[in-house]
Amino acid sequence: MGKIKPLIAIDTNVKEAFMRHLLNPLDFSVEEIDDLLRIAGDIERNPSKYAHVCDGKKLATCFYEPSTRTRLSFESAMLGLGGSVLGFASADSSSASKGESVADTIRIISCYADICAMRHPKEGAATVAAMHSGIPVINAGDGGHQHPTQTLTDLLTIYSLKGRLNDLTIGLCGDLKFGRTVHSLINAMVRYPNIRFILISPPELQVPEYIREDVLKAKNIEFKELGNLDEALPDLDILYMTRVQRERFFNEEDYIRLKDCYILTPKKMKLARPDMFVLHPLPRVNEISVEVDKDPRAAYFKQAQYGVYVRMALIMKLLEVSPC
Ligand code: CP
Repeated sequence: MGKIKPLIAIDTNVKEAFMRHLLNPLDFSVEEIDDLLRIAGDIERNPSKYAHVCDGKKLATCFYEPSTRTRLSFESAMLGLGGSVLGFASADSSSASKGESVADTIRIISCYADICAMRHPKEGAATVAAMHSGIPVINAGDGGHQHPTQTLTDLLTIYSLKGRLNDLTIGLCGDLKFGRTVHSLINAMVRYPNIRFILISPPELQVPEYIREDVLKAKNIEFKELGNLDEALPDLDILYMTRVQRERFFNEEDYIRLKDCYILTPKKMKLARPDMFVLHPLPRVNEISVEVDKDPRAAYFKQAQYGVYVRMALIMKLLEVSPC
C-alpha cells in the first residue's frame, strides 16, 4: 500500500486494466497453474524462504458466507508470508447488513488492503467486485458457481499424491448440482490429457446442464453418470466426496430426503483400489464415516493443509512478489 489510493484516478486505471484477479479456475493458463503448484511445493519444503516476501502487505478477507478452511487458510497464508490480515467473517458484521453494495465495499477495501479474498452467496459477486476494485480480488466461493482456490488446493493434492494431473479416472460423488468445488474442479481438470469422470449423484443433484454440455461433451471428455457409488469405486484413481449442502436447498424436505444418499464406509473402501485417494473439500457432515479417517487413502485433512501452501503461492503471484 504505502500511499492512500484515490477511489477514481486516471493514473491507476491503466494498472487496474492489467491487474490480475482469480475469479474462475480458467483465469490462469495450465502453465501458470503448473508454476503455482511448483512454488506451493517449494513453500511446503522451505517455508522460511518465503517468510518475509509480503512484509508490509495486507490481505482483506471479506466473507459474506460462513467458512472455516478458506478464510483461515488465507489468513494463515498471508501471515506465513510476513503480511497482515483484516476483514469480516459474516455479512452481519459488515455494512452489507445496512445495504452497502459489493461494488462500494470493494472500493473501500481497496483503500485499506493490497489484496482481497471474497466469499459471497451470490454467483458472480467476486466478478462484480473485481470490476470496481483497485486491488486484486480472489473469488473464495460465489454461491453454487465456482471456488477456484479450492480447485488449486485439489490440484496440488492430486499432484502430490499421484505425481501427475493427467491420465486419471476421477469420481465426483454427492451434490454435483450446487457443489461449486465440483464445477471448478471439472473445469480445471478437462485441460489435462486423458481425464475421465464418473459422476455419482441422485438424479436431483446431477451436474448442471452447462457442465455436461458446454464443458464435458463440448471437449469430448469421457464421462458417465451413475447413481451407485459401489459400482464406480473399483475404477477410480481419485474419489472426490462432497456434502449435500443444506444452505443451497429451497425445500427442507428435499434436503432431508437426499442428505444421506451416500455414506463412504470402511466396507465400501474395500471395493476401491489400494492407490485410490479420497478427497473432500470439507466440511464433512455424514458422507464419510469417521472410521474412514484411519484409512491411509483418506487424504482430506492433508488436502486442507495443502490449501495454505497454494494460497501462499497465489497471493505472491497476484501481488507480483517473490523471495530475494
Ligand atoms: N472447503 C471450503 O470451502 O471450506 P470452508 O467452507 O470451511 O471454507
